[in-house]
Amino acid sequence: MQIRELEEADFDSLSELILKVYDEMPYATTFEKRPSAETLSALMRRKLEGMRNRTLADFVAVEGGKVVADCEIVKTTDSGGLVGILVARDHRKKGLGRRLVEKCADRAKLYKMLEVYAEIDERNDGAAAFFSRCGFREQEGEDSLVMVRSL
Ligand SMILES: CC(C)(COP(=O)(O)OP(=O)(O)OC[C@H]1O[C@@H](n2cnc3c(N)ncnc32)[C@H](O)[C@@H]1OP(=O)(O)O)[C@@H](O)C(=O)NCCC(=O)NCCS
Repeated sequence: MQIRELEEADFDSLSELILKVYDEMPYATTFEKRPSAETLSALMRRKLEGMRNRTLADFVAVEGGKVVADCEIVKTTDSGGLVGILVARDHRKKGLGRRLVEKCADRAKLYKMLEVYAEIDERNDGAAAFFSRCGFREQEGEDSLVMVRSL
């Protein structure tokens, strides 16, 4: 298993992963409907642009040439970043998600982020448990579940 920064050539494989997770649990993604090729291509452009201008950290896990997990932290305020993570179903519970969060957190710190937060759908108990195990704590006073961790 290789862990490295996202590259432009990962586009097809990352799109496949996103669509698989969307079909499995749409509420675990940020898409309101199944993303089209154009939406996925805009997402990839946004990621690469953010990596270039140091407002987005993005690491993938690659096995046999395929992206099996992706994590991004995107700067949303002067010092805060929003985390998004997807691990392919048959690669979960093996520590990959945690490894990617730690890689992205280290990079986000270099990009002057001081804290990172996750927005979690109320149906996604697994993600809440995962973020809690990764040191995130529930933010008081939010309507939806928001979990935060200092960097
Ligand atoms: C949530 C997700 C990223 C976790 O990735 P993962 O690679 O399976 O997580 P890890 O193996 O690194 O787990 C780290 C810790 O979290 C715990 N954990 C992970 N998934 C869990 C779950 N569904 N229920 C309870 N605990 C869980 C692990 O047991 C481990 O605990 P430990 O500290 O005792 O070792 C993965 O399930 C996923 O991609 N889900 C679909 C997309 C999603 O929900 N993304 C988050 C949107 S907010």
